[in-house]
Amino acid sequence: MIDMDRIPESIAVIMDGNGRWAKKRFLPRVAGHNAGMLAMKEIIKTASTIGVKHLTVYAFSTENWKRTEEEVSGIFKLLVKYVDSELDELHKNNVRVRILGDYSIIPKAAKNSIEKSLATTAENTGLQFNIALNYGSRAEIVRAVNRINEDIRGGKLEADTEVTEELLSRYLYTGDENGNIPDPDLIIRTSGEERLSNFLLWQSAYSEFAFTDVLWPDFTPEEFKRLIEVYQNRDRRFGGRK
Ligand code: FPP
Repeated sequence: MIDMDRIPESIAVIMDGNGRWAKKRFLPRVAGHNAGMLAMKEIIKTASTIGVKHLTVYAFSTENWKRTEEEVSGIFKLLVKYVDSELDELHKNNVRVRILGDYSIIPKAAKNSIEKSLATTAENTGLQFNIALNYGSRAEIVRAVNRINEDIRGGKLEADTEVTEELLSRYLYTGDENGNIPDPDLIIRTSGEERLSNFLLWQSAYSEFAFTDVLWPDFTPEEFKRLIEVYQNRDRRFGGRK
């Protein structure tokens, strides 16, 4: 049983294994992503119900452009389909959508869907659903440094500004521009892979990790809750002592 008084405030998920799920069924990879989208829908619902404040998912990395044209365009088409079918429901459930990453260069239709989701849910105060899209953490950190530099040169920051951890954090995608998303308490990765793959490198300094062999399309609310229970049994010390 999970302890409802200690639900992690911020959870991030690497939704891995869609391709393998499809392969096992002799289906095209995009069918795996479609099944992955359905799994994601259920996890958003569960996160919202149990009172998670931030759910951050890795939907498309800066490295994912290396995949075939068919797969890349398939993923963005799914995004449009997802927004078309789910935006009303998300809005009704008071979910706020945010994007981490440079979505200016994604296909037009997907970009429009994203902008519509951002605008529609801008005032919502429930679960914040953060989609990492064309996101890479090293690029994010480099961008933050360049933005600080620009703001110093442009006079928005004092010329002798000392760069601190707090300042750098505010210039990341998870910073001011997205309402300062708390660092993930828990990072989940499915499909048996145990690595971060350029996701939230800065933000994960003290995150707990939970891995499961389940492929993302098979990931259920029950498994999600089981991993939260695993998290609740961890002893977080943040470098200090009990
Ligand atoms: C990783 O599995 C998954 C992705 C790169 C894409 C995730 C996309 C979705 C869940 C689709 C829906 C998303 C939105 C925002 C509508 P993989 O393809 O790397 O799997 P593999 O390692 O088994 O090949």
